[in-house]
Amino acid sequence: MAILNSNSQYIRAVRLKHEGIPHGIFPFTLPFVRNLHELELHPNITYVIGENGMGKSTLLEGIAIAYGFNPEGGTLNFNFSSFNSHSKLDEHIRLVKGTERARDHFFFRAETFYNVATNIEELDQQPAYGPRIIDSFGGVSLHEQSHGESFLLCSGNGLGGTAYIFWMNPRLHCPLFGKSHCLRGSMNL
Ligand SMILES: Nc1ncnc2c1ncn2[C@@H]1O[C@H](COP(=O)(O)OP(=O)(O)OP(=O)(O)O)[C@@H](O)[C@H]1O
Ligand SMILES: [Mg+2]
Repeated sequence: MAILNSNSQYIRAVRLKHEGIPHGIFPFTLPFVRNLHELELHPNITYVIGENGMGKSTLLEGIAIAYGFNPEGGTLNFNFSSFNSHSKLDEHIRLVKGTERARDHFFFRAETFYNVATNIEELDQQPAYGPRIIDSFGGVSLHEQSHGESFLLCSGNGLGGTAYIFWMNPRLHCPLFGKSHCLRGSMNL
């Protein structure tokens, strides 16, 4: 287990470059974004909490895309798209990275996790020399498990060693009694 501190943590801060930002265009019209200059992240876990519509998902999506993730989620290797709706926030975000690099990465998006599961099935149906992708996630189709089970499996089995997890709407990912297990699992990675 990697012990991270404020120098080694995977992303130390998120900076918004205000030069060249287009005026009057979403998401730069959001008060939260207009007032954002630098956001420091905690070495272990950072929660983004706020009222509905303030821009939490927009911010997390922007950070995830700037990090190299597919807007609809998955590992850094996923590049499918079912609907192109992400904002241009990522183009103005600068990530201040620490000295450590995670071995595994996963962007959990509750709304699009179904598409991630489908994409894994499609990729595994194509001829390949290596092991199936689903084998990294327990070997059983993510469509054949409950929503919570598939998330627990991904956070517990699929991501070994050190992992960086972007978790959007964790309340939708974890069943009621699995929440603390989920959280412990992701903090221990
Ligand atoms: N593609 C878009 N174009 C224009 N406005 C958008 C777009 N996507 C989201 N918005 C608006 O931007 C605001 C922020 O949306 P966002 O989804 O980031 O909020 P949130 O803080 O995650 O809310 P919630 O807690 O309900 O999930 C909302 O008012 C939303 O209606
Ligand atoms: Mg949201």
